[in-house]
Formats: sequence, C-alpha cells, structure tokens
Amino acid sequence: MNVVATPVLAKVTPPEGVLSPLRLLRTLTSNPMATWPRAIYEEKVVRARFLRTDVLFVIDPDLIKQVLLDEVDSFVRSEATRRALGPAVGEALLTSDGEKWRWQRRAVAPILRPDRVAGFFPAISAAAGRTRDRWLARSGDILDVAREMTRTTFDIIAATMLSGAVGHGAGKIEEAIARYLDSTAWKVALALLATPVWMPYPGRARADRARDLIHEELARVVAERRRSGERRNDLVTLLIEAKDPESGQTMSDRDIANNLFTFIAAGHETTALALTWTFYLLSRHPEIEESLVEEIASVTGGGALAAEHVECLQLTRQVVHEAMRLYPPAPIVARQALRATSIGGEAVTEGMEVMIPIYALHRHRRLWADPDRFDPGRFQPEAAKLRHRYAYLPFGAGPRICVGMGFAMLEAVAILATLLPAFRPRLAEGQTPELTMRVTLRPAHGMKMTMSPR
Ligand code: HEM
Repeated sequence: MNVVATPVLAKVTPPEGVLSPLRLLRTLTSNPMATWPRAIYEEKVVRARFLRTDVLFVIDPDLIKQVLLDEVDSFVRSEATRRALGPAVGEALLTSDGEKWRWQRRAVAPILRPDRVAGFFPAISAAAGRTRDRWLARSGDILDVAREMTRTTFDIIAATMLSGAVGHGAGKIEEAIARYLDSTAWKVALALLATPVWMPYPGRARADRARDLIHEELARVVAERRRSGERRNDLVTLLIEAKDPESGQTMSDRDIANNLFTFIAAGHETTALALTWTFYLLSRHPEIEESLVEEIASVTGGGALAAEHVECLQLTRQVVHEAMRLYPPAPIVARQALRATSIGGEAVTEGMEVMIPIYALHRHRRLWADPDRFDPGRFQPEAAKLRHRYAYLPFGAGPRICVGMGFAMLEAVAILATLLPAFRPRLAEGQTPELTMRVTLRPAHGMKMTMSPR
C-alpha cells in the first residue's frame, strides 16, 4: 500500500522557558508571535509579563465571548494597537472607541451590505483576470505569490472603495502601506516597554514618510471629489455624505481620509494573505488541490466564473476557512481593560492588556483534533455547526466583528476559483516559509512559487 506522508507545515515555535529581556525585545521586533508562551495552546487563560506590561492571554471560547460580547463595554482598543496604527489612521473606524466608533461604524455599513458587496463581483473578477494574464505571460517564472495577491486585492479595494481614484498613485500607496506596517513591530514593542510615544526606533523616519505620502494622496482624492461634486457608488461619496442621524454630525476631511486609509490597509493585505496561505497549503496537498479543481469545473461547467457560481463552491469556501484557521491573517485581537474585572478567575486590573491570540485559539489542543493538520473537512457545514461560535474567529466577533467579512470571502473564493483552474501552484524548491507578524500574519520572506499553466 502507498502511504502518503502528511506534509510538515510552517508554524510558530513557542519559546522554551522565559526569554531574557534582550532576547524578548529582539524576538518582539522580529516576530512577536514567537514570544507567546507555550501554555496558550493548552490553557484557558495565561498571565504573562512582557517587558514592563502585564498581559492576560484569553484562549477559552466562553471567556473570549465575555471580552468581545458580554462585557464589551469594559474593553477598548489596546494601547499597542493605538500606538501601532494611530499615527497612520488617527481615530478612524478600526482605532476608535465609544461614540466616535459607533457612528463611524453606522456610516460605513451601507457600502458593505450584501447587495452592494455582490455588485463588486465584476471588479473582483476583472482584477483576478488581470492576474491570470500576468501569470500566463510569466509562465514558469518563480513568483512571489504574497506580492502577487497583494497587488490583486489592492487593485480590487481601490476599484471598489475609491472608484480607482488613486490611479497611477496606486503602486506608491501599496508600497507605502507595506513600509508603514513594517514599523509596527517596533511600535508594539515600545508600547509594551511603556516608553514615551516620541521614542525613536529603527525605521521610524521611513515609516513617517510612508504615512505622509498616503495622507497626501488620500487628501487629494477627497479634495478632488468635493471639487467635482461627482457622486459615485463608493466609500468616498458615502463618507462625504455621511451624517449621524442623532447628532447631525458629518465627517471632517481628515476623518474621511483616515477611514479610506483604514479600509485600504485593513481590506487588502488580509485577504491577500488568506489567499497566499491557501496557495501554500494547496501546493503541500495536491490531492485537495485536485478536488478543488474538480469542484470548480463542475460548478462553472469549465467556463468563466460568474457571480452566481460563488455560493455553490462549498469545498473552495471550506479550504479558505481551513487556511485561515491555520494562518489567520489577523493573528491577534487585542484589548485594554477600562475597568477592573475578572476573567476565568484571573484578576484584570484597570488598563491591563487583554490579548486574544487567534492563531493559538485555532491550534488549541482542547478545541481541535490534530490541530496542525490541514483538513478542510473541519468546515463541512455539519461539523462547523457543532463547534463553539468563539472557537474559530478569523474575522473577530461581537460588535467589532470585521465589517468586510462578506466582501473578503467573496473575493477570496472568486480569486481562487479564477486562478486555480488555470495554474498548478508549486512551492519553489528549497522554500520553507517562515511566519512573522506585522499586525498581519505574513510569510517573512514572501512566498516563492511557480504557477505552471494546466
Ligand atoms: C480575509 C480577510 C480579512 C480578515 C481575516 C479580517 C480580519 C478582521 C478582524 C479579526 C477584525 C476585528 C479586529 C478586532 O476586533 O480587534 C477586523 C476588523 C475590521 N476589518 Fe477586517 N478582515 C479582513 C478583510 C477586510 C476587508 C475586505 C475590509 C474592508 C473592505 C475590512 C475592514 C475592516 C475594518 C474597517 C475593521 C474594523 C471594524 C471595527 O472596529 O468596527 N476587513 N477585520
């Protein structure tokens, strides 16, 4: 009998014992996930001290529900998140709390209603088609699939949210966002050290320049739209016209630009990473890749993918979900306690950082059988129904659940179903991706693959 060995997949190795302060700082700035204690893959709550900050890791579904839903008003965005993202996006949807958050959330909701999202299919399909053509022209070359997917999803977010208004500035913005996010590991480490916000660190000037470039470009987009008075079916027009029904408040140009920045940043790299890790997993599991190709062919009849096909691609959706279980694009959800409380018997003091390490939750020994194995069968509808709602959280949960969830799933399934029937993904020889976190969970040195035409 031919026994196929289960491929070994890239994962984070927790530290052995307690790291010295210097080693801790070094690891925090290279890959913060490698500092997370081993116990978080086995226990319900774990208390840890990082430099000068006490942190409570919460990894039990019921306790996570307590933080994200039942006692949601007792927690705000974490200090680390505010320091990492605040300088770029101010108090926009992702980074604000309380009333400021509530009205911005209401203001953006219409653009992500299911009927509007369905209307984005042509833009998604066109962008996926351009990527397919680009790959056909480079057949046999080694591609960085992480880079390729970022380009594809950026194309989509700019087309749908800004009606393509960044035009030739697109490449510059995309690069600037990547440069800015690179600096966030230092910002988080310094927050844990409780240093003042002005503290210099390597790459700070570069990150500030990247942020200024994005601000200028987005301010130009808003000013031009106001000047032209043109109404488009996009986020720019929606935010310009947004008015709080209770207070009558409208958004300043700075708030609009900050929210555009938030949507571009939160809305493209995450989806790109979900797809990058999916291609990686499929290259390790050709038998699942074959089943996917069969499903796509039987749903589309071998023709072009149409909007109505997407919801019939059950296995494709399962594969994307399982890829986000093993490699959640947002590997941590962080909060800060507004008031003293208790979680799972552990005292939480006012101001304490409470971390929900999604990556560890998704590989938790008590919640998942054989947690490191790729098995899309876990997301068959019957199996998924039996699972605790808070055991699988790639998009978070509670009132702050990802606003772009439906959009992201449509995009991921449609892009995969466009590209996979055309190409066989294979990891370039000698490649073993190394995981790192820069707000998102990325392959540290890209994902080098060949995409050979079928
Ligand atoms: C696979 C792709 C995506 C993943 C894994 C993802 C993940 C997440 C997670 C975990 C949160 C909650 C963070 C928290 O509670 O602290 C979040 C929030 C958010 N996401 Fe996504 N996201 C994705 C795609 C998108 C897209 C496509 C958009 C925009 C079109 C978007 C926009 C946002 C925004 C604006 C928030 C903040 C919501 C709030 O605070 O009220 N995301 N996302």
